[in-house]
Amino acid sequence: MEPRKGQRLPFGMNFPLLLLLSSLFLNLFLLSYLSIIFCQYSQLRWTSAAAAEAEAIAAIDCSGHGRAFLDGVTVGKGLPGCECNTCYGGNDCSLLMPECPADADSGDPLFLEPYWQQHAASSAILVSGWHRMSYQTTGDNFISLELERHIRLLHKAVRNAVTDGKFIVFGSGSTQLINALVYALSLHNSTSSSPAHVVATVPYYPVYKFQTNLFDGREYKWEGRTSEWANVSASSLTNFIEFVTSPNNPDGLLRQSVLCGSAWTSSYLYLLPYLHLPTALADEDIMLFTNSKISGHASSRLGWAVIKDEKIYERVTRYMLSNTMGVSRDTQLRVLKLNKAMIEMTYSSLVTEQ
Ligand SMILES: Cc1ncc(COP(=O)(O)O)c(C=O)c1O
Repeated sequence: MEPRKGQRLPFGMNFPLLLLLSSLFLNLFLLSYLSIIFCQYSQLRWTSAAAAEAEAIAAIDCSGHGRAFLDGVTVGKGLPGCECNTCYGGNDCSLLMPECPADADSGDPLFLEPYWQQHAASSAILVSGWHRMSYQTTGDNFISLELERHIRLLHKAVRNAVTDGKFIVFGSGSTQLINALVYALSLHNSTSSSPAHVVATVPYYPVYKFQTNLFDGREYKWEGRTSEWANVSASSLTNFIEFVTSPNNPDGLLRQSVLCGSAWTSSYLYLLPYLHLPTALADEDIMLFTNSKISGHASSRLGWAVIKDEKIYERVTRYMLSNTMGVSRDTQLRVLKLNKAMIEMTYSSLVTEQ
């Protein structure tokens, strides 16, 4: 609006001069803002190419029925092609295959993928070529102390289990810990020279049986269904190891140990808020968990056992050290980032709910 005739502007300025000065001021402000951004960007010396590559591949269009990955098979122009979801095909996954059967048996946690796509920034990491090349990491027995701390925080955030005063051992998925626990418990409980009896209630996760049979040795033996031993007196059950999965795979039922006097491992892989709202904190002597289910990152292969007894903890650790010298430090780094993101999001959603 032009000043009315006779209206005075401050410091004796006229209107065109005021306009010029404000435009100069605005341009100066924008220029300094852009130069700050540019300086920050140009300080990214070796990460910018990796970041640009990750973003370019994430942007490849796979019609919403697949996605492209950094390590995917290259197709043209050095870029990876789309990897299509089941029943979809074509270069961009747009072709729905007729009469394609659904696989109701698979436990692949891909349904959590859209969640992580929505939280892309808080879950991304960029790793240098010289990141943690040593066998060693921050904690004893090749574990990342920060990851261990965040696993305890995660259990507190999702309120599914008590970890205070207990030891934590990492495995390459909980799969690796299954046999480590059988080994540790069979040595722990054995007062007789006969092998420990390993049992599970039907229907059970078949790997319990496969692994126990595969590694069958002097210390333990697969003995099948728990129910076959239900009427045996407690005093005869001291050399038993029972697998208890709750909620159970495959039927989803909540389970408890059946054989009094036996040692048991409680697999709480599915005791998760998005599947079954935990009513009470799990507080068993041995509990198994995995990122394959809690965050859906089955590919990272990180599971953990929460163990009360120090001797059992030491035996499981000994098994892990001689077996793999600990879980991949790259995996531990990635899972740390994912777990931090989940803790942050769990607490912020609790605050918005209140
Ligand atoms: C009961 C049970 N234990 C272990 C596993 C394997 O988990 P991970 O990916 O942690 O090895 C599964 C996977 O479906 C499972 O259902």
